Amino acid sequence: MVLLARIIITTLSMMTFIPVLIIPTEAVEAAEAPLNYFLHSYGPAAKPTMYLGWMLAGLSIAICLILTLLLLTALIRKRPQIDRRAIGSEGKGIRWIYIGTGISTLVLFGLVIYSLMVVNKVAKPPQTTMLAFTVTGYGWWWKIEYEHDDPAQRFVTANELHIPVGQPVRMKLKSADVIHAFWVPKLAGKTQMVPGLINQQWIQADRSGIYTGQCVQFCGVGHAHMGLEVVAESAEDFERWLIAQRKIATSFATSDEKLGYELFMEQCAGCHTIRGTDAQGEHAPDLTHLNSRHRIAAGLLMNTPDHLMQWVINAQKLKPGSRMPSFALSEKEASALASFLSTLD
Ligand code: HEC
Repeated sequence: MVLLARIIITTLSMMTFIPVLIIPTEAVEAAEAPLNYFLHSYGPAAKPTMYLGWMLAGLSIAICLILTLLLLTALIRKRPQIDRRAIGSEGKGIRWIYIGTGISTLVLFGLVIYSLMVVNKVAKPPQTTMLAFTVTGYGWWWKIEYEHDDPAQRFVTANELHIPVGQPVRMKLKSADVIHAFWVPKLAGKTQMVPGLINQQWIQADRSGIYTGQCVQFCGVGHAHMGLEVVAESAEDFERWLIAQRKIATSFATSDEKLGYELFMEQCAGCHTIRGTDAQGEHAPDLTHLNSRHRIAAGLLMNTPDHLMQWVINAQKLKPGSRMPSFALSEKEASALASFLSTLD
């Protein structure tokens, strides 16, 4: 009876997947927790794995239902007293064991073949990739380097990847410290980022939009706040974004901005880079085009002037363990720094 109860509970809990499968895509996009909907896919690197996942979920539910039915039938049906010795080779019972084992073996063998086909399908993009970049996992943010044959066209950004819609892009995945894992569920399966190793991954988005990603290898205290966004946009918008990102910071006009710049050079330049200035720190997000990003601190806060200053003053409180200290600034310093940061678009 306990076994039966367990089977029924498992079956019911698996059935909670079903509403996820039938939620319309519009609802998915409006959803507050986009990672919950990994059973949807928007690109060819994720679709085969998603179908495999659905198939396995469906099969598991079917097996649980069949077993429950068989058990219920066995419990309900009145049967004459069984001679236990009859299960031996002359009895009828052994036949069912052969049949059951045969069916399970066939199903499992089919699944192995199907899984291998899926692995083969997602291993390589369907067409050659024109665009490549490197993503490096840091505790607890992502450095993104856009490659180009001409070194002057290369640039670095953080936490927000832009890609053109409908084109496969290739990524090299690295880690600067511990093991991280790159996962944008609607676009591709997860790939680990291992120190000393360069892993490869490709993604493609078939629809424009913002796709949320997350580090899925526990990497320390800030792990839960190591998110990223992939912005898929039309080829023209993407080209415009590339051109804007390649620009270096312009000069700072007002006295407040200049004061903010000096403060930045004193307090922040050791860690952060702003291209076009002497700030060349390598171990924190590149801030050259800080205001072009939707969010700051790897997805933690929306990027607003208010949040930016809250972050600078309270980084340790907002993201405990973050590799950026909190800064005690006077009102004048805070306002100068805010003016300077607002020029970084
Ligand atoms: C000791 C190194 C260090 C110093 C000094 C430092 N930062 Fe940071 N900063 C970081 C790191 C590391 C991050 C990424 C934190 C995270 O998301 O976990 C960061 C993130 C940021 C971000 C968010 C960027 C983004 O795109 O997510 C801003 C803005 C920022 N710092 C501004 C400043 C300013 C302004 C100063 C000086 C007052 C400063 N930082 C000083 C290390 C530093």
